[in-house]
Amino acid sequence: MPEANEAAKTKLFSPLTIKSVTLKNRVVVSPMCQYSAKDGHPQQWHFDHHARYAEGGVALGFVEATAVEPQGRITHGCTGIWSDDQIAPMARICEIYESKGVVPGIQIAHAGRKAGGQRPWEGNNALGESDAARGDAPWPIVGPTAEAQHDAWHTPHALSTDEIEAMVETWRQATIRARKAGFKVLEIHGAHGYLIHSFFSPLSNRRNDEYGGGLKQRMRFALEVTEAVRKEWPEELPLFYRASAIDGVEGGVEIEDTVELAKALKERGVDVIDCSSGGVRGSATLARSYRPKPGFQVPHAERVRKDAGMMTMAVGYITEAGQAEAILEEGRADLIALARELLHNPFWALHAAQELGADPDFELWPDQYGWYLTRRAASMRLPVEGAE
Ligand SMILES: Cc1cc2nc3c(=O)[nH]c(=O)nc-3n(C[C@H](O)[C@H](O)[C@H](O)COP(=O)(O)O)c2cc1C
Repeated sequence: MPEANEAAKTKLFSPLTIKSVTLKNRVVVSPMCQYSAKDGHPQQWHFDHHARYAEGGVALGFVEATAVEPQGRITHGCTGIWSDDQIAPMARICEIYESKGVVPGIQIAHAGRKAGGQRPWEGNNALGESDAARGDAPWPIVGPTAEAQHDAWHTPHALSTDEIEAMVETWRQATIRARKAGFKVLEIHGAHGYLIHSFFSPLSNRRNDEYGGGLKQRMRFALEVTEAVRKEWPEELPLFYRASAIDGVEGGVEIEDTVELAKALKERGVDVIDCSSGGVRGSATLARSYRPKPGFQVPHAERVRKDAGMMTMAVGYITEAGQAEAILEEGRADLIALARELLHNPFWALHAAQELGADPDFELWPDQYGWYLTRRAASMRLPVEGAE
C-alpha cells in the first residue's frame, strides 16, 4: 500500500456553510448557457454536461441562465422554468449533482432587450428571416425603454408599470418551480445587460417614473424581483444575486452603485453577491477579442464584500489553483466560480486540490480512478527500472 501523505490545509478546500447548506469546498460551476434546450427543457447534453462537473470535485454547480418566461430566453436553445413540465428534467440535474455530494443551484433569468438571438455558433446576431425559415422565429422583446441594445437588434417594448408587476410575478412563479425541482441554491441574474441590469443601468434605462431616473428608482425593479423570489425561496436556503458590478462604459454603473444595491439586497435576504461586470453594451466577456488581467473582476468582489459586509463570489479569468487560493486567503471573496476553465478541464477542482497539497492521496477522486492514481503516483516516485 502506498503511504498516506498529510493533506495541506487550504482555504479553497475548506467547507463553507451558508444558511442550512454546507459546501464541501469553494469551487463553483458558474452558470453557462448551453443553447441546447428544446422548448426550455434540458436535454441529454445538459445531463452529461453537469455530470462531468459533479464528478470533477466542485462544491456547487449552477444550471445556466434559465428563463422565467419564454420571451426572456436569449435564444431558442435556452432552458426555461416557466412551465411545470420543466420541473422533472431540472430535478434530474439536481439528482446528478446530489448523488456526488455537490449542491445543485440554478440561475433564473430574463434576457429583456437582449432576448431573441441566434445561438452563438449560428451567428450570435438578432434572429431574422432566415432563422424563421428554419423554425427559429424572432419574438417580441421587452425592456425598461424602447431602445435597442444596438442598431442591429430588435427594439424592445417598454414595460408599463402593470406589465412590470406581472413580470415580477413570473419570477415568483419560477422560484416555486425551482424549489420543487430540488435546487438548494438560487441565483437571480441581475447582470450582463439582461432585464434586471437594463433597469439598473442608466445607459439602458431612460425612464423617468418610479422605475427610472435616480439610483433608487433604477434599483426598484431588482429589489421587487428579489422580494418576490425571497418570499418563495425557503429562508434556510441560500440566495445569490449576480451583478454586473460596473458597466465599464462612461455614464454607466459604477462600483459605488453596486455597493448600494448590495446593501439593499442584503436587507431583502440575499446571501451572496456574484460579482461579474459589463454586458450593457454587447457581450459581457466572451465574444470580445480582448484580454483582461487574470481575476480582473476580483476587485469588485472585494469591494462589495468589504463595503456591504456580505459574502461574495469572484469570477472571470480565474484559472490557477494558487490564484484562487490567494483570492480567498486575502479575504477578497468567499467563493470562486469558474466557467471556461471548467469547459477546458472539468476536473479542475481535483487537479487544484492535488496542486495545493489538499488531496495528496487522491481521496477526493472517485474510487474507480483514485485507487489507480495513488499507486501510479507512488510508482512515479521510484527510479525508472533499468535506468542508468
Ligand atoms: C458557454 C458560456 C455560457 C455562459 N452563460 C452564462 C449564463 O448563463 N449566465 C451568466 O451569468 N453568465 C454566463 N456566462 C459567463 C460565465 O458564467 C462567467 O461569468 C464568465 O465566463 C467569466 O468566467 P471565466 O473566465 O471563468 O469563463 C457564460 C460563459 C460561458 C463560457
